[in-house]
Amino acid sequence: MKLVRTIPALRREISRYRRTGRPISFVPTMGVLHAGHIELTQRARRIVGRRGIVVVSIFVNPTQFNQKSDFKKYPHTLAADCAKCRAAGVDIVFAPSARSMYPENFSTWVNEESLSLTLCGASRPGHFRGVCTIVLKLFNQVQPDVAIFGQKDAQQALVIRRVVRDLDIPVKIIVAPTVRERDGLAMSSRNARLSPQERIHALAINEALSQVRAAFRRNIRNASKLKKIVRSHLAKIHGMKVDYVELMDTAMLRSVTKASRGNLLAMAVWVGGTRLIDNIKL
Ligand code: PAF
Repeated sequence: MKLVRTIPALRREISRYRRTGRPISFVPTMGVLHAGHIELTQRARRIVGRRGIVVVSIFVNPTQFNQKSDFKKYPHTLAADCAKCRAAGVDIVFAPSARSMYPENFSTWVNEESLSLTLCGASRPGHFRGVCTIVLKLFNQVQPDVAIFGQKDAQQALVIRRVVRDLDIPVKIIVAPTVRERDGLAMSSRNARLSPQERIHALAINEALSQVRAAFRRNIRNASKLKKIVRSHLAKIHGMKVDYVELMDTAMLRSVTKASRGNLLAMAVWVGGTRLIDNIKL
């Protein structure tokens, strides 16, 4: 496995592989890698096979944090992340500096202006502008054939798919299922910030989603009722604050009043000082 720290060095590597026609599969991350990320790299490997190249980027992107304090708190664990990537058979870890990704007077942004306005886009203004800009830059640098995103960040995956389609970026977007801890909590780099008590409280998120799934199976289709199941369950837990609970269609990310198969029930919840997101497709 090679650790590449600069854009010119990455270009040299990529053009070498491109010349020999080896397919490139890409997993963009902000580091603090967990088993969910590793599953994404394994999926990346399965897609391109042994001849292909698996690239993981590790870059804590300052422009997608709408609060400076959140960015400052974000852990950096490059050495441990590289060890995990090496063990997982990743070929290249690309970990550029913030200065190289955002040179002085940086002034070009990618804005998706529909799907990114709701859910996390509404509660975190500017978040998706930062995500779209950095992902597009990474796509230009890595030139992948395939890029893998997690379903936990369902809105992010939909927004990126839209950008790729609208701007004719030649990359196939794959969305991999959310990986959960044994007790059901969706894996997230943010889980590490939870105190032991908050970690227990956070289980209520997946419990609430399971209750919604069960209610949908019992033919409850009223969106307000389904959302209320989540709010009522979380209200029982001390220190939990709902940011949003929404039921949406996945084509346009518009709220629905009557649930149907394939709709997305998405939520963001503050557990103490940590904001967690999760979702299910009905
Ligand atoms: O999902 C993430 O970790 C980030 O939003 C991404 C896609 C790596 C862009 O910084």
